[in-house]
Amino acid sequence: MKNHKSDTAKAVKIIDGVWWVGVNDHINPLFEGMWALPNGMSYNAYIVRGKEKTALIELSRNGFAEDFIAKVEEVIPLADIDYIIHNHLEPDHSGIIPIIYEKCPQAQVLATAKGKNFLEQFYGEGDRVTAVKDGDALDLGGRTLRFLNYPWLHWPDTMFTYLVEEKVLFPCDAFGGFGALDQGLFADEWDLEAYWPEAKRYLGTIVASYLGHVVKAIDKWIKGGMGINILCPSHGPVYRNNPMSIISRYQEWAKNERGDKVVMIVGSMWGSTHEMGAVVKHRLENNGLEVKYFDAATAEPGQVLGEMLNVGAVVFGAPTYDANIYPRLEYFLMLFRSKKKNGLPVATFTQNSWKVNITPKINVYLEAMKSRIIPPQVVGHGSPDAEVKKELELLADNLTAAMKGAGSVS
Ligand SMILES: Cc1cc2nc3c(=O)[nH]c(=O)nc-3n(C[C@H](O)[C@H](O)[C@H](O)COP(=O)(O)O)c2cc1C
Ligand SMILES: [Fe+2]
Ligand SMILES: [Fe+2]
Repeated sequence: MKNHKSDTAKAVKIIDGVWWVGVNDHINPLFEGMWALPNGMSYNAYIVRGKEKTALIELSRNGFAEDFIAKVEEVIPLADIDYIIHNHLEPDHSGIIPIIYEKCPQAQVLATAKGKNFLEQFYGEGDRVTAVKDGDALDLGGRTLRFLNYPWLHWPDTMFTYLVEEKVLFPCDAFGGFGALDQGLFADEWDLEAYWPEAKRYLGTIVASYLGHVVKAIDKWIKGGMGINILCPSHGPVYRNNPMSIISRYQEWAKNERGDKVVMIVGSMWGSTHEMGAVVKHRLENNGLEVKYFDAATAEPGQVLGEMLNVGAVVFGAPTYDANIYPRLEYFLMLFRSKKKNGLPVATFTQNSWKVNITPKINVYLEAMKSRIIPPQVVGHGSPDAEVKKELELLADNLTAAMKGAGSVS
């Protein structure tokens, strides 16, 4: 029999004794004040009940306390919660702490030692917290929660919580994605082919600086041999049938192996830099490469970063603007640096009218990332003439050679 769509306006039972009590956000246009939320966002929280005790895992972002409390209270009065477990203290999981703590003064709060520090720093509630160590267990009466340290996924405080008997993993921000749960709580209710790019965009933005930790964490988990029947991330759908569908994708994306794809980010005020970009794009495609071309003025930064996972090379193009890099392009150079895109082949072309060549300013970013700067770094003046076009084609050929590892490019 086909499953009925789960209604996430209410608490949703996952298995006996385990409920989803999260919230859907269709209000905030951005996540982390940076990344677009065209389909909203979910902040997932869960209740686990044993024979004697009840635990609440994670809370919610500020502004959703009423909705959150109503969901919890469909399952149990808030005042009867015995444990509040914080896998991670970022405000999307913990913003409603002041309201919740006040309403359940008897609940014992558990977090990692680093989480305890953050609780003190953000809310002055450090004293209320018992710090748990990697591998510690909590008996709820016939049900055991185990706490496993997974620091840097993506904050230093992060841990996973694992329901041992039923093999349910609550992996916090790992294996999450953008989007409210409008299609239902469970991944098997979703059009997953449409969702994977949103999960990849989330990984490429939220966790991007810590991809190595994702790969290590998955290895550590697999080696630990604990198994997962149900995967309950803090954002995005719950995987009750095939947790490996998201885990294996995260593994592939986070490995970040270089493919045949080039990401081009080009900014322009009046179009000449795009004319240069078109020459480069055309030549790269003729050379058999896949090119994702983004206009720096209008591209959603998260989408660009999502495409930068498994990228083979990056191309930046920009005009001079007030003696500096055209600001909308410089923003992408900043992201390139902050998301640690180390060691990639990178090509550049620029534009100026009164001789302020911005190439050295761009190179400051590239050198910080130990990029392999591909020559020639083309400098144009207005619409590209035949000579500049030839240089741009040479640049594209050199970039192709660098990506394919063929011969000299200097
Ligand atoms: C607001 C503004 C500021 C500019 N500042 C400089 C500058 O400081 N130095 C310079 O050489 N050219 C400057 N330019 C000229 C552009 O870099 C030049 O016209 C370039 O060809 C524009 O490329 P585009 O057609 O891709 O916008 C400026 C242009 C504008 C519109
Ligand atoms: Fe987070
Ligand atoms: Fe989060």
